[in-house]
Amino acid sequence: EDRDEPVVRMLMFGKPGAGKGTLTSRLAKKYDITPISTGDLLRQHIAARTDIGIEAEKIVASGGLVPDQLMLKVLSSKLDGLGHKHWILDGFPRTFGQGELLDAHLKKRSTPLTLVVNLDVPDEVILSRISDRWVHLASGRVYNMSYNRPHVEGFDDITGEPLTRRPDDNPEIFARRLKEFYASTSPLLSYFAKMASTQTNESPNPHQHPHQVSFHRPSGLRVKTLSGSTSDEIWPQLDRLLQNTFPGLRERQEIKK
Ligand code: AP5
Repeated sequence: EDRDEPVVRMLMFGKPGAGKGTLTSRLAKKYDITPISTGDLLRQHIAARTDIGIEAEKIVASGGLVPDQLMLKVLSSKLDGLGHKHWILDGFPRTFGQGELLDAHLKKRSTPLTLVVNLDVPDEVILSRISDRWVHLASGRVYNMSYNRPHVEGFDDITGEPLTRRPDDNPEIFARRLKEFYASTSPLLSYFAKMASTQTNESPNPHQHPHQVSFHRPSGLRVKTLSGSTSDEIWPQLDRLLQNTFPGLRERQEIKK
C-alpha cells in the first residue's frame, strides 16, 4: 500500500435507523475497508452472555446509551488491530466522552480521522423502516421487507441462518433512541464540522473554540452530510464521495486480480 495515499478513517454518523449499518456494509463489500459497528459488537456480547453483554443488555433494550467506559472495553481491542488499514466506525463516538477516548487513541498512533459522513434522513422515513427491519445477529447483516428483502424470507442470504428482530425496534424504545441521539450525539457532529472547517484556516486561533472539550486536530478531515430518503439517493452520493476523497482506494475485485 502506498503510504502517501490518504487512508479511510471514517465515522458513519446519523440517527438510529438512518442506514449507517446498511451503507457501511455496502462500502466494506465493495472496497477493502474494515467495518466496526458498536451496535453489532454489543448485540454479539449480549447473545454470548459475556460480562459486557450482561451489563449492556438492559440499557440497549431500553434505548439508552451504554456508559463510555464500557464502550471503551468493547472497542479498544478492535481499534488496536487496525494499524494502517482502511476502516469505518459505525455508531461510535456517540458522546463527547467517547469522542475524547477515540481522539486519544488515534493521536497516540498518529492515525487521524479523515472523513465524517452524516446521513440525514427524515424521522418519519426512519420510523417506517424500523418496523420492517430484520437482522442476522452473527454478521450484523440488515434486511428490510420493503427495501432489501432476503432471498428466502426469514433467513440470511449468506449463511442460511434465521433472522431475528431487535428488541429495541419498537416505537416507544425507538423514540427514546432518537431522543438520546438529539441530546448526546448530534452536538458531536457540529464539533467535527468546526474541526474540519478550521483546517482551511492558515493560522487558527485557539480561542475560537468555546467548547470545553479539545480534540486533537487531524489534518485533512472532511465532514459531509448526505441527505435522502432511499438507498437510490444516498448510495451513489456516498460512493462518489469515497472515490473523490480517496482516489487510491481500489475495489475488492481489482485487488484479487
Ligand atoms: P446501534 O446498533 O448503533 O443502533 P442505532 O444507532 O440506533 O442504529 P441502527 O442500527 O438502528 O440503524 P442504522 O443507522 O445502522 O440503520 P440500518 O442500516 O440498520 O446501537 C444500538 C444500541 O446500542 C444503542 O441504542 C445503544 O444502547 C447501544 N450503543 C451502540 N453504540 C453505542 C455507543 N457508542 N455508546 C453507547 N451506547 C451504544 O437501517 C435501518 C433500516 O432501514 C433497515 O431496515 C434497512 O434495511 C433500511 N435502510 C437502510 N438504508 C436504507 C436506504 N438507504 N434506503 C432505504 N432503506 C434503507
